[in-house]
Amino acid sequence: MNNRTGFFLTIEGVEGAGKSTLAHELAKALRERGREVVVTQEPGGSALGNRIRELLLDKSSVIGNRAELLLFEAARAQHVDETILPALNRGAVVICDRYADSSLAYQGYARKIDRDKVEFLNNYATAGLKPDLTILLDLPAVEGLARQKKTDRVSSEKLEFHEAVRQGFIQLAKDEPKRFVVLDARQSIDDIIKKALGALNL
Ligand SMILES: Nc1ncnc2c1ncn2[C@@H]1O[C@H](COP(=O)(O)OP(=O)(O)OP(=O)(O)O)[C@@H](O)[C@H]1O
Ligand SMILES: [Mg+2]
Repeated sequence: MNNRTGFFLTIEGVEGAGKSTLAHELAKALRERGREVVVTQEPGGSALGNRIRELLLDKSSVIGNRAELLLFEAARAQHVDETILPALNRGAVVICDRYADSSLAYQGYARKIDRDKVEFLNNYATAGLKPDLTILLDLPAVEGLARQKKTDRVSSEKLEFHEAVRQGFIQLAKDEPKRFVVLDARQSIDDIIKKALGALNL
């Protein structure tokens, strides 16, 4: 892990915070600077991960909290091995739309699974791979839900659930201030991109 030359950026935040928009805009800007950029997302990021994503997001799926956590972690393990590590090893910038912090916020803070258990499974699934930088797009859950174009099994949870997710992310950012950059997601997309590029310094 230590000899890799790439850069691993993750983007976190509640539903509709603007993660996917920022991931694509940052990729465009970094490619203009000549960097190889891989944009990927969780759950997903591999053929297996995309199939698990369909199961997780399908509104007709019945999934308990433990099964949900394990499915996210299984998708994550494959994502790291198949997509993220190879890209980092060849020197690419990897921009990942959600990663292990989402499990801490959703399955930990919002579904109330012990943080220790989520951390253990995150560590196992990622083989210890941590982001170099994490951008948290902070937004009141109610505003994110209003921005959303389509809903899925997880985003259809009640408002209190999504507000617990938001508070979880804020706590995670406080716990690891060196890794996290928190940006107010109510700013214009242009302002967010500018600040994110400044934080990245690539
Ligand atoms: N800073 C912003 N201000 C206003 N609207 C925004 C901003 N960023 C993104 N949007 C809009 O909000 C909507 C949701 O954005 P986006 O899909 O990027 O969010 P997301 O965090 O990826 O959501 P999800 O969690 O559902 O994947 C889109 O219509 C997008 O154009
Ligand atoms: Mg998105």
